[in-house]
Amino acid sequence: MSASIFEDGFSSDRLFKQGYSYTYDDVIFLPHYIDFPTYSVHLASNLSRRVPLSIPCVSSPMDTVTESHMAISMAALGGIGIIHSNLTSFEQAHMVRSVKSRRVPLLSNPVFKSPSDRIQSDDVFDASNPYVLVTEWQPQFEAFGLRFGGDCWGGGGYMEEKKRDVVATVRENEVVDVVAKEEVERIKGYPKLGVGTVGPDGTWLVGAAIWTRESDKERLEELKMYSKLDVVGGNVVTVSQAQNLIQAGVDGLRVGMGSGSICTTQEVCAVGRGQATAVYKVASLASQSGVPVIADGGISNSGHIVKALVIGASTVMMGSFLAGSTEAPRVFVYQVCMGSLEAMTKGSDQRYSGDTAKLKIAQGVVGAVADKGSVLNFIPYTMQAVKQGFQDLGASSLQSAHDLLKSSVLRLEVRTGAAQVEGGVHGVVSYEKKSF
Ligand code: IMP
Repeated sequence: MSASIFEDGFSSDRLFKQGYSYTYDDVIFLPHYIDFPTYSVHLASNLSRRVPLSIPCVSSPMDTVTESHMAISMAALGGIGIIHSNLTSFEQAHMVRSVKSRRVPLLSNPVFKSPSDRIQSDDVFDASNPYVLVTEWQPQFEAFGLRFGGDCWGGGGYMEEKKRDVVATVRENEVVDVVAKEEVERIKGYPKLGVGTVGPDGTWLVGAAIWTRESDKERLEELKMYSKLDVVGGNVVTVSQAQNLIQAGVDGLRVGMGSGSICTTQEVCAVGRGQATAVYKVASLASQSGVPVIADGGISNSGHIVKALVIGASTVMMGSFLAGSTEAPRVFVYQVCMGSLEAMTKGSDQRYSGDTAKLKIAQGVVGAVADKGSVLNFIPYTMQAVKQGFQDLGASSLQSAHDLLKSSVLRLEVRTGAAQVEGGVHGVVSYEKKSF
């Protein structure tokens, strides 16, 4: 009897060579030998050559996903946020500064006023900015100020003791934020935060997206005040595209074309690649040069994250998965795709060629997403689910998953349409899906 009869599943190399463009749902891993508990799985990774993260999560540079609150919270969780560029270079640089000036992932965005300013009713009644800080009146804010040193729980104790509902946080004798007791209480109820993503100066690490137009050099000038920048290039989906960027010296690669949840690039332009194939192909090349890969787009559950990471990505970049969360910029339930006509009208059309062609062609749609609550709550649960997936595969880290895949120990298969139906909830009249 030939030994090949007992060969089970496909090696990744064989599976991805079949000439099909596979996306995450098309493929499935076969379980492997488990000899460690879930808590032994470590998901630490790298965004790019010099940016280590304690969780492999990146928030997408979309104007409905990453502004300063999201970036602060992603960094507090051990991931990172990339500020979108659908705004002026000055506004974008201001957001980066705002992320770096905060210590704790609390939501507040106070309006700063000097004593000579008039306070408008809009300043006071804006639900997302409920505080107005008059900062030039030194004696008042000095008395009011508090140094947190990154400990919002300790801060909560201080508020209790002083019987205050709101205190200001101070950095180098400047008020940088206010903290409300109800916010501290909200965060105390979430899973405890792990190791945050901070630079050598103790401030949160944050990314900023820029395009490759001539005018973007100005954007870069505004952002270059932070030295030792790592440059991530993309988006790419093929080996030769990746090769070009690696030769140009990128520190990381962003992979995905048309895989975004509400993007129509593949439909409109007939160009792109199934995300599983794109990540596998690019990561196989990039790993030879030690360049980390960001799997961008198409993540809608923890299983997709497991698949992206195991087939070679170092991190996943998420848009719709995070849109509609407490930390996302829109308080309402809208997610606007960056290539939709609406977003292009606001500014992203230069990227999608609408400005030179004069005729605007959308490569995305406007969609509504559900309210998801805080990322500080659901990302830790998601990471726990990802750890369970890694455990089922017998991989205790990203490196060990990549090694098992390369050595063909990990086996995969393509799922038929019926197998995909079977792998989801089926055969029940109605159900309620609670993830945690
Ligand atoms: P999601 O996580 O599936 O929602 O995908 C997010 C990714 O979709 C982003 O990081 C972008 O790379 C991509 N994206 C966002 N807006 C557009 C668009 O309008 N057209 C094409 N791709 C987009």
